[in-house]
Amino acid sequence: MAFTSKVRLLRILSSLFMNQCRHRGMRLCRADAGNSKAFVCSYHGWAYDIAGKLVDVPFEDRAYGKVDKEQWSPIKVPCLDTYKGLIFGCWDEQVPPLEEHLGGMKWYMDLMFDRVEGGTEAVGGVHKWVIDCNWKFAAEQFCSDMYHAPFSHISPVIAAMPPGADPSQAAWPMEGRQFSDPNGHGTGFFLNAPGFLQALLGEEVATYYEETSRPEAIARLGEIRGAQMDGSHMTVFPSLSFLPAINTLRAWHPRGPNQIEVWALTIVDKKAPASVKDAYRKAVLRTFSAGGILEQDDGENWTEIQKILRGHKARQTLFNAQMGIDNDRHDDPDLPGKTNYVYSEMAARGFYGRWQEMMMAESWADLSCGGVSDDSIKGEADNA
Ligand code: FES
Ligand SMILES: [Fe+2]
Repeated sequence: MAFTSKVRLLRILSSLFMNQCRHRGMRLCRADAGNSKAFVCSYHGWAYDIAGKLVDVPFEDRAYGKVDKEQWSPIKVPCLDTYKGLIFGCWDEQVPPLEEHLGGMKWYMDLMFDRVEGGTEAVGGVHKWVIDCNWKFAAEQFCSDMYHAPFSHISPVIAAMPPGADPSQAAWPMEGRQFSDPNGHGTGFFLNAPGFLQALLGEEVATYYEETSRPEAIARLGEIRGAQMDGSHMTVFPSLSFLPAINTLRAWHPRGPNQIEVWALTIVDKKAPASVKDAYRKAVLRTFSAGGILEQDDGENWTEIQKILRGHKARQTLFNAQMGIDNDRHDDPDLPGKTNYVYSEMAARGFYGRWQEMMMAESWADLSCGGVSDDSIKGEADNA
């Protein structure tokens, strides 16, 4: 059943095409959502159907004689696949199958995309903003960096405490794990940290996540994902990140080496009550969005690093990424894959290792699985 619907979805998506007119390159569609029977370029009026075929060229007979409509249709995305409602596309026809790329990360992604029957949907539209930093700062932090949270985000946590509460009692969870995938993906999460969601997203969201939907989540995903993982960060290599439970999803689009354009969505369970969906929408707006109080903490760190890296000497500095370097394990009884303590940089090493490997490779065939080993990073630091 699921397979049939996936095949159908891929058939619909097979007409996905570059949003670019083949005459002078004008953007064909400037809306983020909606319906249309055709796309007519606003520059000179070339018209395309929704499957992406050029169907009309103004003054064709007199001006051109004949335009080959097949040849001058927009560029199609050659490789498409989906996972739990997410659509992945790649311009490179040689790219390995999505299934292979996601690998062990799927088990962790299901924490956000498969908790209850019916899957998820986006609410509130796409939010876009620009941050003056390299795309890897954002992707690495969501991949591996829980370490910044108790320090960078302490102010909004204190602000969310009940009136009269003692700010010195603002405690941060200590228990949790991190996972690193050989293909560069990573995630980290607290374990058994009740109260975390309520403080950040409010009562209605916390009640839905921790009570209403929890029995079904446990039945589908088991005890550890259904009941114990709280407050996760996650990156699917290279540039797709999300925070399960908080339910923000974002793609980090590089705008050159010094700037990113963030496209962020709020994700909710499709069958959640309408009031919960709206509570989620507002809560994510308040916390992790262009004006979100926690988003500012992150963006501030990334832009300041980027500014300092303009200096010639600053760019040559060796930084310490050794946290948890001797604590990798492959035998966690509850978790698949390579894991470590929640405050670790194992997944960051995996992310940068994979990126470096890709930058050096001539083709997909040259890529191994595993990136740079922790031993080589240790050796580099010892020699510094
Ligand atoms: S650029 Fe689209 S019709 Fe000219
Ligand atoms: Fe953060």
